[in-house]
Amino acid sequence: MKIFVYNYREFDEAEYFQKFSREYQVELGISTEAPALENAHLAQGYEYISIITSRIDAELMRRFHEMGVKMISTRTVGYDHIDLEAAKKYRMQVSNVSYSPECVADYTIMLMLMSIRRMKRIMQREEINDFSLPGIQGRELHNFTVGVLGTGRIGKAVIRDLSGFGCRICAYDRYEDEAVKAYASYEKLDTIYRECDLITLHMPLGDENVHLIDRDAIARMKDGVVIVNTARGGLIDTKALINGIESGKIGAAGLDVIEDEFGMYYYDLKSDVLSKRDLYILRGFPNVVVTPHMAFYTDQAVSDMVRHSIESCILRKEGKEDPWAVL
Ligand code: COI
Repeated sequence: MKIFVYNYREFDEAEYFQKFSREYQVELGISTEAPALENAHLAQGYEYISIITSRIDAELMRRFHEMGVKMISTRTVGYDHIDLEAAKKYRMQVSNVSYSPECVADYTIMLMLMSIRRMKRIMQREEINDFSLPGIQGRELHNFTVGVLGTGRIGKAVIRDLSGFGCRICAYDRYEDEAVKAYASYEKLDTIYRECDLITLHMPLGDENVHLIDRDAIARMKDGVVIVNTARGGLIDTKALINGIESGKIGAAGLDVIEDEFGMYYYDLKSDVLSKRDLYILRGFPNVVVTPHMAFYTDQAVSDMVRHSIESCILRKEGKEDPWAVL
């Protein structure tokens, strides 16, 4: 079978694409570019394509459909970059992948600790031989009540990790998970906003939760609340976040994702003038750590992303049940 791979990365994915395509006897077509109308023709003759987080809108979906593409596998857990309505319209199969939740869970804990220990300023000051103490006193995690929004695989791993720190943990999800209850109590959103010192987001982004954390939600939170987001930027209204930080309502933030990051992350844009004012503002705050959507980025996760994408296409081709099926 044949799969066309967009956004193919030589420096980290290639070894896994070679390994698994050999193992599963799959012929690969590759492009280092993101899929777009201009390069859709590259996938001519392929029924299966593999992508990462580039947008697949209705127009591009139609183009792939007209070319005979039957399935889009995204080498990511999230699939909010794919227009699923258009996929349904063109009967395009869609799948995602899974990878060990530990990569994001580890990173989340790191951002929590960096935020509450003021690590950004500590590191900046150390670089310029400012070894003074004022302004960088931290807080201890065991004194915190932490709210975890979303208790899927990643949220659950974060809760398990947090349990070792001795903090009180509150969880929120539409579906309660029995395993979570060993460490956390499920609470209403309002209770979480009212009682938690730190709130961390672990839910997929959908129409129903765009800007879940908006001006109103922030107003209901504790003064000095810490917000950590390793899920999707669209869960937070960035303007409201900036206002909350400026007013002091939000004490610190650790953000691995921001709104409007499409087309920006994973490219070297250091010599470009970016029209991303919110990013510049956030980055400028001493109490905000911004990282470029890196929480997933480990050897284990990259291997899983590649392997599952290939396996998912093979399962569909063979008419077998695909555990990563989205559509
Ligand atoms: C995902 O897998 O959904 C991620 O967030 C990581 C991806 C952007 C590479």
